[in-house]
Amino acid sequence: MDVLTKDDAVKVTLTLPGNPEYVSVARLTLSGIANRMGFSVDAIEDLKVAVSEACTNAMKHGRGKNSENYMVNYIVNHEKLIIDVCDNGVGFQMDSIAAPDLKNPKESGLGLYIIKTLMDEVEVKSEKNSGTVIRMIKKLEE
Ligand SMILES: Nc1ncnc2c1ncn2[C@@H]1O[C@H](COP(=O)(O)OP(=O)(O)OP(=O)(O)O)[C@@H](O)[C@H]1O
Ligand SMILES: [Mg+2]
Repeated sequence: MDVLTKDDAVKVTLTLPGNPEYVSVARLTLSGIANRMGFSVDAIEDLKVAVSEACTNAMKHGRGKNSENYMVNYIVNHEKLIIDVCDNGVGFQMDSIAAPDLKNPKESGLGLYIIKTLMDEVEVKSEKNSGTVIRMIKKLEE
């Protein structure tokens, strides 16, 4: 992973069971890391929402045959926090996901949209039947 070649980067990895009760572990770990990095309370709240949505997707859509667990990587350097949520599920094509119609809101289909709104950068790497990595980046404000 390119960002890890930088001298000051560190990585924290969680392997979580596909059970909604454990999303709080991803959120708590995130709070600890983001707080240490100096993110504001508001930014930490946004990060928590984004990571929860990504974990929920990993559990709900990502679950393939051998994917009882999914992984959350937190990659930290002096200027930004990168969060990768990785599953071994069915995968999907980002292009095929339509943006939600906010004038006619539905009950679902908002997760990726919310993640994109709250994070500075979002990248999805997904392949049919071999899983998904969603990378979310938040920069530290000066
Ligand atoms: N990790 C994933 N693996 C496979 N498909 C995914 C994954 N994440 C998202 N998707 C696909 O992208 C679609 C949109 O995801 P999004 O989170 O925006 O909405 P949702 O999960 O369907 O509903 P909501 O998040 O509002 O409860 C999903 O319905 C699913 O088809
Ligand atoms: Mg979702």
